Amino acid sequence: MGLLITFEGGEASGKSTQARRLRARLVRQGYTVVLAREPGSTPLGERLRRLLKQTSTPIIPEAELLLFEACRAQLVAQVIRPALDRGNVVVCDRFADSSLAYQGYGRGLDLELVRGLNRVATGGLAPDLTILLDMPWRAARRRRRAAVGDRFEGDAAATCSEESGAAVAEFHRRVREGYLALAQQGPKRWVVINGAQPPDQVAQEVWRAVQPKLPPV
Ligand code: TMP
Repeated sequence: MGLLITFEGGEASGKSTQARRLRARLVRQGYTVVLAREPGSTPLGERLRRLLKQTSTPIIPEAELLLFEACRAQLVAQVIRPALDRGNVVVCDRFADSSLAYQGYGRGLDLELVRGLNRVATGGLAPDLTILLDMPWRAARRRRRAAVGDRFEGDAAATCSEESGAAVAEFHRRVREGYLALAQQGPKRWVVINGAQPPDQVAQEVWRAVQPKLPPV
């Protein structure tokens, strides 16, 4: 049985960068690593990802949740379970906790409903370690804008309707609070890292959290 490590956090919190860096470090140590992202990493998941990211397609919270769960079910069956069965390390950029944070805490859907659908999609599979890159959404947005010199894209709150800036900020505040509540409820699985630190510092803290969980190569 392999090891499942997930990254969680708000948009532009540095998850994807840190997931790639972790994969590279694990590979250097001799591990076979599968890197995946949610939604995505299967043909179905990548198609649904494009749909979910299209802010012009109206979608109600329940429909949004079911689409994320569909991506998840496919990813677990097609990629994650087989990799774990081969004894690989799986690094996943978002997983079931994203639905709890975004659709549950963010959109206000019943948390038990989300938990139930997460169980259906994952078949009860839970990460061995979840790393939360925590930082305020506005700061993350400023950082991304500075880095790409462009308009911020990928705003989850805008997928449902045209919401005002204040409502969008409030949505992301609820998502962040939700993540912190989840981390507090599961201290054995979760590690919270300040995502506003320089990437090298974050990578060091990620490695410190991962090392004790690693099986012998
Ligand atoms: P990302 O590639 O920036 O992480 O974008 C994925 C978007 O999808 C992000 O806005 C969070 C959102 N999302 C949910 O709302 N629920 C979920 O279950 C997942 C996996 C992602």
